[in-house]
Amino acid sequence: MYALTGVTKRFTKGRKEVRALDGVDLSIGDGDWLAIQGPTGHGKTTLLQLLGALDRPTSGSVVFDGDDLAKLSERRLAAVRARSFGFVFQFFNLIPTLTAQENVETALVPLKVSAKARRERAATALADVGLADRSGHLPAELSGGQQQRVAIARALVTEPAVLLADEPTGNLDEDTRDEIIGLLEGLWKDRGLTLITVTHDSTVARRAPRIAWISKGRVSLRKDDRRVQRPRRATRKGTDGEAPPKGDDGATVPKSAGGASPVTDGTTEEETAAE
Ligand SMILES: Nc1ncnc2c1ncn2[C@@H]1O[C@H](COP(=O)(O)OP(=O)(O)O)[C@@H](O)[C@H]1O
Ligand SMILES: [Mg+2]
Repeated sequence: MYALTGVTKRFTKGRKEVRALDGVDLSIGDGDWLAIQGPTGHGKTTLLQLLGALDRPTSGSVVFDGDDLAKLSERRLAAVRARSFGFVFQFFNLIPTLTAQENVETALVPLKVSAKARRERAATALADVGLADRSGHLPAELSGGQQQRVAIARALVTEPAVLLADEPTGNLDEDTRDEIIGLLEGLWKDRGLTLITVTHDSTVARRAPRIAWISKGRVSLRKDDRRVQRPRRATRKGTDGEAPPKGDDGATVPKSAGGASPVTDGTTEEETAAE
């Protein structure tokens, strides 16, 4: 699904240059759940934005289903975004003057869906996240966890192949955090979504079968346990997604160089983009 090769992203701030991403090689298969974990300021959001075609790399390639997102025209990028990606953010980003139902419907407006179908699909999406009885509420009348559920419904109502979530539990208390991660996990399992969650929180990252650790703009795979991977869609154009199940004995596989692993549970295996 994704193959990133030599991806760099530089920002210039006055005369200072920030290397937000510094030579990232990464592959993500159809149906994977990958957590991108690392400290604040180390490039997580930048990487997620490249994966979601919200931005382009300074150099390198971000191949998604055979298209290099670094090279597509703005028009085609917008089309890929609308068709393939759903986004969830730390601060929910709901429109405060619209009800839950209306917030979810907004995602369908660019897709030329009739008003009636918009209403029905939004109602179904809200029911899928357990909020059928809150559809008429404004965001301010909902708890943080409920607001994030509305945002998840809005991201999924377009039936994207990939759900990209940037610190989706960063603004929630622990119980609500676990509830939202449980919801995302259930949706991932049921729908064969590709799920990419960015987090600085190892409790959240550990839930994912694959964890990419990011430090100073460099990425290394820290955990790769695809026993629970659930690819649904056919794999296309030779990208990834077909790794055989790992052994069930939890044996550790040698890690490559790159420092101490922050994650010790699950099968750990270093992987390169050339798998
Ligand atoms: N638009 C931007 N302009 C300048 N610097 C940026 C911009 N976006 C991110 N950065 C810098 O890139 C680095 C990585 O940022 P970010 O990807 O947001 O990190 P994280 O999400 O891990 O906290 C930081 O040093 C940040 O200040
Ligand atoms: Mg961030």
